[in-house]
Amino acid sequence: MKHDPDELVILLTRGISQRKMYFAEHPKVAAISHSFPKELVSFLEQSGSKSLFLGVVDRKLVYHGTYLIGPSIVGSKLSEFAEFLRCGGFLFQSVVHADEMTQFFTLASEIAEPLAHLAEARALLRERGIRNIELSPVYEDPEHFGGLSDFAGEFNGELADDNDGQMAGMFLCQNLYDTVDTAHTGSTMGYSLDIDRAREESGKLVDGTREGFMDIMQLVHYPDFDTYTVGHSVRVALLATLVGKSMNLNDETLLELCMAGLLHDVGKSQIPDEILFKPGRLDVEERDIMETHARIGAEILMGHEKASMLAVAGAWGHHLRSDGGGYPKAPEWAGRHFLTQLLQVCDVFEALTAIRPYKPPFSPRRVYEIMVQDEGAFDPTALGVFVRAVGLYPPGSRLVLTDGTRGIVTAAGNDPEKPVVLIQSDREGNELPAEMHHEVDLDAEAEDLPAVEELLM
Ligand SMILES: [Fe+2]
Ligand SMILES: [Fe+2]
Repeated sequence: MKHDPDELVILLTRGISQRKMYFAEHPKVAAISHSFPKELVSFLEQSGSKSLFLGVVDRKLVYHGTYLIGPSIVGSKLSEFAEFLRCGGFLFQSVVHADEMTQFFTLASEIAEPLAHLAEARALLRERGIRNIELSPVYEDPEHFGGLSDFAGEFNGELADDNDGQMAGMFLCQNLYDTVDTAHTGSTMGYSLDIDRAREESGKLVDGTREGFMDIMQLVHYPDFDTYTVGHSVRVALLATLVGKSMNLNDETLLELCMAGLLHDVGKSQIPDEILFKPGRLDVEERDIMETHARIGAEILMGHEKASMLAVAGAWGHHLRSDGGGYPKAPEWAGRHFLTQLLQVCDVFEALTAIRPYKPPFSPRRVYEIMVQDEGAFDPTALGVFVRAVGLYPPGSRLVLTDGTRGIVTAAGNDPEKPVVLIQSDREGNELPAEMHHEVDLDAEAEDLPAVEELLM
């Protein structure tokens, strides 16, 4: 059985992030430096290997000849580090020590531009006392560690079979995650927001989803690596863009809506981790602090001349209810923009359908029930527009149909029960080759059309 090193990639990425924010001896950095070697040993025992090699090819992480799509999205800091070191991957020996990990994170957080060549990078690692992490030459080099190991054939074969569409989506997601992560990390450290970057990436998303949302929605379901805020914000932005498109909003408004989604929770960067990550219920005082994130987010954005009014309004008003409840306390004369009301719907829908360690994801059907029962919470028009655009089976959802075939939703249908599905496996459950994948509109006027049997979560 193949073991996925996803958790290890997440730890490495978090280590780099935390070291960017905190000094080397900080307990948060130390905790990751200590847990990585332990997790590595248990991973190697389970997988029966002596060392872990993570390849990096064109900003994508590779393990055992396969691209790690999810980890590549959240682990862009690691692949960027590899690029700066002019290497094609990292080989972690089982005996790697916590001190070496701290040095590794420190180097990754300090390095700001590419080194001249690999030899310089190797010397730098030795200088820092890092002996149990080796740098591989780049992929094209015959000395590449992936090429020397026992999975060389598999490695070459898989990488040649690159899926362009999926890779383009992956880069898009990688940049969106990085934009939100940098905005949050930067705000924590008191830096000004990079609004230009958020705008640029939002523009790419609006462009990249012209053909549909299936590919990208599939990719963003990867669990969040750190705060449950980064992936959440990217998904809220995607949902808002999807709904905005169904309303035929012009490109500039769509871009602003997307940006507002990406940055709506930026105020959480100022909430102490003890409250943000508290596993149990927050007490009254903690909740009061947590709720300040909406006001703080609006203030952060207002401090930036290039932030749009919609982004400010989105951050400020995404927890306000239609009946005037919620937070922050708003004066009676204050109205809410329709798109802010839409962001509130996207925010709640995402939070309830998301994968979290402490709760199962709810199905969209269950989420709509909860939302409708919460009288006065949502603007009925915003909720209606959302349900029509997203449906019971959002694009990217995997379905089993009543005839036994399986596929992925490409778009919502006029009837929320009947989406358009790309069939990917036959009635016997055999996966079809890509050229035999075909779209079925379950809402079409044809006889013998199957219905949805099950939503695979
Ligand atoms: Fe929020
Ligand atoms: Fe949110």
